[in-house]
Amino acid sequence: MADLKLGFGPFRAPSEGILVVFCDDSLNIGAATRKILGKVVDSLSKAAAAEHFTGKSGAVLDIVLPADLNVSRLTVIGTGKTNGLKSKDFLKLGGAAAGKLPRAGGDAMVVADLPDGPMSADAVADLAAGAKLRTYKFERYKTKQKDDEEKQGSVDLTIAVAHPPTATRSWRSREALADGVTLARDLINEPANVLYPEEFARRAARLRKLDVVVDVLDVRAMKRLGMGALLAVGQGSMHESRVVVMRWNGGKRGAPPVAFIGKGVCFDTGGVSIKQASGMEDMKGDMAGAACVVGLMHALAARHAKVNAVGAIGLVENMPDGNSYRPGDILKSMSGQTIEVINTDAEGRLVLADVLHYVNTKHKPKFMIDLATLTGAIMVALGHEHAGLFTNNDELSSRLLAAGEATGERVWRMPLAPEYDKLIDSKVADMKNTGGRHGGAITAAQLLARFVGKTPWAHLDIAGTAMASPQNEINKSWSSGWGVRLLDHLVAEHYEG
Ligand code: BES
Ligand code: MN
Ligand code: ZN
Repeated sequence: MADLKLGFGPFRAPSEGILVVFCDDSLNIGAATRKILGKVVDSLSKAAAAEHFTGKSGAVLDIVLPADLNVSRLTVIGTGKTNGLKSKDFLKLGGAAAGKLPRAGGDAMVVADLPDGPMSADAVADLAAGAKLRTYKFERYKTKQKDDEEKQGSVDLTIAVAHPPTATRSWRSREALADGVTLARDLINEPANVLYPEEFARRAARLRKLDVVVDVLDVRAMKRLGMGALLAVGQGSMHESRVVVMRWNGGKRGAPPVAFIGKGVCFDTGGVSIKQASGMEDMKGDMAGAACVVGLMHALAARHAKVNAVGAIGLVENMPDGNSYRPGDILKSMSGQTIEVINTDAEGRLVLADVLHYVNTKHKPKFMIDLATLTGAIMVALGHEHAGLFTNNDELSSRLLAAGEATGERVWRMPLAPEYDKLIDSKVADMKNTGGRHGGAITAAQLLARFVGKTPWAHLDIAGTAMASPQNEINKSWSSGWGVRLLDHLVAEHYEG
């Protein structure tokens, strides 16, 4: 569908369009649902039996032109067992419901009711967010419609709830989050000829509208700071590098901020150590970490989170050119540590090294979490369902693991150890930028660890989850916006107020 218009209304029988209701795995429905369905309830169990519908989570039963209801279709969606449904489950249900909305547009109603009573305001907000994220599409560059394609229209979706004003209030902050995810997805989907470092910086600067303080460091400023690692990566590109620092001050004045750092390689050719051609187009998404940080800062500001937060992104393009950095080059990072370049395709860690050091020394954060599409090795290890978590802090680890379970953006802890750290020692400099074929995601993380001092820090390797990841109930796009919901949840649970 072209567009989703979302609103909340009271429980009532709709007079047209499509009706979506929920039932559990014993085919039980809530009282409000029962009232809306009227006589149709009597035929439900027969229809379910005919279609082998058991109400298991995500299963769907369609009843076209149900008698006694003024709707064109009734869709029953299974919830499975309803005890212990979490935020991520309501998102999925909202996604499943939105998946049943007509492409051509029209009216639809989803009844936010379960066998044990109406959904809470927060559950309703998650349901709505799921619907919003499910209908996300990136079609900015499509100018033609194929002959056999159904015309797309906008859907007017009413979510019927126990108390519309509280649902609307709860939705306002959930909508901020959904918009943050959408913003991240849009940035990741944009091609690199459009979204190069300066343009990315301009997009990030739009957060000023939400009262985020945005500072942009240009090449001159970075040279003055001595960011020799980041600048080396970008020096072969016709596009200048940038660092953008976004600050949201919603917490106590002077309280140390939480900090998020993103890898923003707008395109990664590999540089002189050039990548193979097959699949290289996906490297337009090598800035997904940075996109997530921008999306998260949007969410925090738009929902007026009671926290001081810093978001910092290193924006470069990694190109082969007469001016490119080369294997064998020795770089001086802002921290003073020197790095021998073994492979110019191991560029993300060089970018992050300088941004991590900058944020750590300038903002003295409570913790730093970086997000980066850092290694192919993490995909070999974990596939696409978990991001790799590397951290020097057990509390941050358990909080991130729990946030992952709650939001469905799951992380899996990977090791750090002195024996791995040794693998990146260099004969000619303080370290080298790769550590050999084995444990590639770990040695990448060990390099980052050398730039965070004693600050609690976590590194999320999102190469497997950020892009080209499996599609699910709340994402049908190439880019998932992975991490925005995870980190918003972490902040809300532990660092606000
Ligand atoms: N951006 C890539 C990692 C990547 C690959 C992300 C595929 C998503 C999909 C990163 O800059 C990279 O090239 N890493 C190299 C490191 C190696 C040269 C040590 C890799 O993983 O092969
Ligand atoms: Mn690379
Ligand atoms: Zn890269």
